[in-house]
Amino acid sequence: MERLTSPARLMIVSDLDHTMVDHHDPENLSLLRFNSLWEHAYRHDSLLVFSTGRSPTLYKELRKEKPLLTPDVTIMSVGTEITYGNSMVPDLGWVDTLNHKWDLGIVKEETGNFVELTLQAESEQRPHKVSFYVDKSKAQEVTKELSQRLEKRGLDVKIIYSGGMDLDILPQGAGKGQALAYLLKKLKSEGKLPVNTLACGDSGNDAELFSIPDVYGVMVSNAQEELLKWHAENAKDNPKVIHAKERCAGGIIQAIGEFKLGPNLSPRDVSDFLECKVENVNPGHEVVKFFLFYERWRRGEVENSEAYAASLKASCQPGGVFVHPSGAGKSLVDTIDELRKHHGDKQGKKFRVWADQVLATETAPGTWMVKLDKWEQSGDERIGCNTTVKFTAKEGEGLVWEHVKQTWSEESKLKDDSSWII
Ligand code: GLC
Ligand code: MG
Repeated sequence: MERLTSPARLMIVSDLDHTMVDHHDPENLSLLRFNSLWEHAYRHDSLLVFSTGRSPTLYKELRKEKPLLTPDVTIMSVGTEITYGNSMVPDLGWVDTLNHKWDLGIVKEETGNFVELTLQAESEQRPHKVSFYVDKSKAQEVTKELSQRLEKRGLDVKIIYSGGMDLDILPQGAGKGQALAYLLKKLKSEGKLPVNTLACGDSGNDAELFSIPDVYGVMVSNAQEELLKWHAENAKDNPKVIHAKERCAGGIIQAIGEFKLGPNLSPRDVSDFLECKVENVNPGHEVVKFFLFYERWRRGEVENSEAYAASLKASCQPGGVFVHPSGAGKSLVDTIDELRKHHGDKQGKKFRVWADQVLATETAPGTWMVKLDKWEQSGDERIGCNTTVKFTAKEGEGLVWEHVKQTWSEESKLKDDSSWII
């Protein structure tokens, strides 16, 4: 969070399963639309927070399966674990507050008396979260009975039912809502309370997110029955919470537009980049746009025309160099010629490219260094590259690419891939 020196323009706090991630869309289109919108228009001055019910183990699995961006803050295990940055540094202060009237042993003992409860996987049992599966028809009754028993044993817990199947038991002070309130308080104390915050969710454990004061909220179109019921009973008259018409990340983009929180046109929704005007001089945007073009080029979704090649070459410095992750260097112009040969070679295949953590710094007036992680998914294989691009602003021409350098990302080092183009 130290990355930002002033309050975030927008802080998005989003659930993952069935909110940011659409498990019914194998192409991940709405997620990829969100990703390019975030990287081109928000990453530099805003905060991305993921708030998931998953434990760190299952969260990391999801990251491998889906093209998720790297968030600034990761809240896991239904608001019981908060971590910061790429290296996921835990917030130990938060953990301390959760021990109040909480005893894991007693929770396990009492829940053992309920035949209706089936324990979830070991990975999902956490220091401040005990999770079960329970049939929809039994959920209310079990919740009531269990809370009475735990209260009698001196505990103060919160029992949350989500997705029509999951039952989580947490300390009363935990949960996604409390974790968000804690984060907002922390940011405020640093003088960095976000200008706007948007909470996004689809199921029971997200309900609390929508009752935090001054926070906008979107329940995605595919929200679960238990969340819609909670909304009807508790937040129907709050104009800051909407039920989107679009599914998952599409609903998040819709909410950004409806609440007027900032730009809501994803670069993926722009079909022809040649029509993008140059007045919009934004180096991060250039990079997002280029890699999207590259994806479409190899998928054969843009025409193999002289006009595109010429426009790409025109945006490169004549002596500009591209350093391949293998260490070999060649001119940017030759790289574009090379790219021409690969037009449509991924047609009909699973091939996607996305940029993560795009950050631009003006190193001298008119000179920009853009750093990003570029990811390429081809079939079931994914390769990442740490990429640095140097741009210079040229009178009347907008930004010109001067130098591109790529190195394999940590996860991709062993995969040295000769078919790599850019
Ligand atoms: C995630 C967790 C699970 C939890 C559920 C609802 O699926 O893995 O343990 O019960 O979210 O919060
Ligand atoms: Mg969910």
